[in-house]
Amino acid sequence: MARIEFRSVCKSFGETKVIEDLDLVIEDGKFTVLVGASGCGKTTLLRMIAGIGPATSGEILLDGKSICNVPPGKRDIAMVFQNYALYPTMTVRDNIEFGLKNNKVPKDERDKLIAEVSEIVGLSAYLDRKPSTLSGGQRQRVALARAMVKKPKVFLMDEPLSNLDAKLRAAMRIELIELHKKLQTTFVYVTHDQVEAMAMADTIILMEKMEKTPFRGIFSFEEVMLHTPIL
Ligand SMILES: Nc1ncnc2c1ncn2[C@@H]1O[C@H](COP(=O)(O)OP(=O)(O)O)[C@@H](O)[C@H]1O
Ligand SMILES: [Mg+2]
Repeated sequence: MARIEFRSVCKSFGETKVIEDLDLVIEDGKFTVLVGASGCGKTTLLRMIAGIGPATSGEILLDGKSICNVPPGKRDIAMVFQNYALYPTMTVRDNIEFGLKNNKVPKDERDKLIAEVSEIVGLSAYLDRKPSTLSGGQRQRVALARAMVKKPKVFLMDEPLSNLDAKLRAAMRIELIELHKKLQTTFVYVTHDQVEAMAMADTIILMEKMEKTPFRGIFSFEEVMLHTPIL
């Protein structure tokens, strides 16, 4: 179970208000996509869920309990970044294993988990390679595997496909949709690409810059069709 709720959440950086009085529910098990122009606060929102950028005020709840005082490592939430954030000097296996070692997971269990997730993301043959010898798509799979191996309740993905070329991006979209079906966990996926949002989401959250319009909302698929000028 992983239902995320924002209650009257505000976030400012000094004088700059990025998010003001946000009330939002992200449903358990759904593929929710946050879409909005660059700079509107998408990454800020994900970082608050992950616990790596606390809210200025308000409350964030996970399954009804406030997580404001829970450190990032104890939230059962994994985040995949746009730039992969892999350790360049470590092999694929070590990158995937790193968090497990930190959490003192025993060696045989670690081996089992690594075998399992690397099979799912198609990396079994690459475990001894360094990230620099992999393609962009393969690196993103390592980042995904590193998130999956922790068996989190929530996956946060911050524009994870934006460094890939169009063809690979289209293929990875389908893989992520399949992965979500398989795992049945809560996915919160950020993109600035409306077409990508439409292709992947169960629910779309449309974010707009505060100074442009005070409105933020959740739309059903059909409503987004109406609101989306490019389609
Ligand atoms: N650490 C920070 N310090 C100051 N301003 C920040 C910081 N992080 C983000 N911002 C500002 O907050 C706004 C939202 O940023 P961000 O969440 O990264 O947007 P997005 O991910 O939608 O592109 C931007 O105006 C950005 O400049
Ligand atoms: Mg961002």
